[in-house]
Amino acid sequence: MADKMWAGRFSKELDKRVNDFNSSISFDARMYRQDIRGSIAHATMLGDTGIIDKSESEKIVEGLSDILSDIDSGKLKFDPNAEDIHMFVEQVLTERLGETGKRLHTARSRNDQVALDIRMYLKDEIIEIIPLVMKLTETVCGIAENNLETVMPGYTHLQRAQPITLAHHMMAYANMFLRDIGRLIDSYKRMNYMPLGSGALAATTYPIDRRQVSAMLGFDDITQNSLDGVSDRDFCIELCSALSVLMMHLSRFSEEIVMWCSWEFKFIELDDAYSTGSSIMPQKKNPDITELIRGKTGRVYGDLNTLLVMMKGLSLAYDKDMQEDKEAIFDAVDTVKLCISTFIPMLATMKVNRENMRAAAAKGFINATDCADYLVKKGMAFRDAYKITGTLVALCIEKGTTLEELPISEYKAVCPVFDDDVYAAINLETCVNMRKVPGGPAPVSVKAQIEYIRRELGEIFIKE
Ligand code: ARG
Repeated sequence: MADKMWAGRFSKELDKRVNDFNSSISFDARMYRQDIRGSIAHATMLGDTGIIDKSESEKIVEGLSDILSDIDSGKLKFDPNAEDIHMFVEQVLTERLGETGKRLHTARSRNDQVALDIRMYLKDEIIEIIPLVMKLTETVCGIAENNLETVMPGYTHLQRAQPITLAHHMMAYANMFLRDIGRLIDSYKRMNYMPLGSGALAATTYPIDRRQVSAMLGFDDITQNSLDGVSDRDFCIELCSALSVLMMHLSRFSEEIVMWCSWEFKFIELDDAYSTGSSIMPQKKNPDITELIRGKTGRVYGDLNTLLVMMKGLSLAYDKDMQEDKEAIFDAVDTVKLCISTFIPMLATMKVNRENMRAAAAKGFINATDCADYLVKKGMAFRDAYKITGTLVALCIEKGTTLEELPISEYKAVCPVFDDDVYAAINLETCVNMRKVPGGPAPVSVKAQIEYIRRELGEIFIKE
């Protein structure tokens, strides 16, 4: 084993097991781009401020750029014996540049370096996730646009409740996803502070220019306290929490799709390319994708819990516990990206069975509220109207019929206020069209909801 960078103080080599136990390169190597970009900015600043020689700083920058392209091209492989990605890059640089390479780590610690790298890495990830959620939202809007008049039952307690449209149902999800984007943007903004210069914990005596590094790396500003700069992982927790809420939305959507695919509902059919069969039951077509998304939601919640528990009670500033942040937040980010990018084409190719939705809407007395409202419009108090309608529903159940099909004589026998116009009032399309207040299921109202979401999506600005 090669000497450790910190070998000076030690008289024995590190135990092999401890070496492996301590090592994070297997999972932090994925931050190599951010690590090198950060080091390039740091080295440039060291040269500009005269902390190291300008010519040496230039050599370091060049050496780092070469390392970056060698890793990108596969020419340079990660050394599993390097403790972490930070040590690895510095080790290669020193092998290649000799003495000059050793100057890179001036006025820096791995503690502020890792704090910088994770922020940069997660910022890049958020920039990838937001467009995915935007695309998901647009896909949902597209389904809504094509189903403005697709009547279906709306549910409470999973009991048919009142008539809505598939468009209205879809736009509920569009609103959730829009909020998810808002939470991602918020977490981006709060992690956009540059921690380098915090040193190990107590900053540095060198006359560094933190603002130069911050500007070079595209941060809004620098972190304000060196202890906080190295020991803060709020941004991981915040992002993971935003991702957990997003997964919660995806899992509710998934659950509905699972139900809607069942023979009991048959509201939709997934494309063959996005469903799977059974090894034993030839008739089966299973919505595995949605079930997996439901399952993976638990995994992201687990990541959030890992981060929260890991940070609980940690003394300031850096503690090695914090190395555990990466696997959790990386897993959350990977899982979310995987789920959304599978969910979008599945959703886009799903077929809607309008007849079955309409038929289900016709069966569950979901126009009972409208029947009561009919009596209210004729001057009756709502509570009385409610009671009379309840009696009519019981009568229909007894006779095996629906409110639409119950003869007017039966209506009149229960309450003489009823007239032939009751059929128009309880017609499902009327029930939907009348709910045209902002936020309601009427096509005009849902159209406005779609326009609103599209306008909001259009205003999201993602910087490169
Ligand atoms: N691999 C470490 C981590 O991920 C980097 C920081 C190490 N700092 C230290 N003082 N040992 O947290």
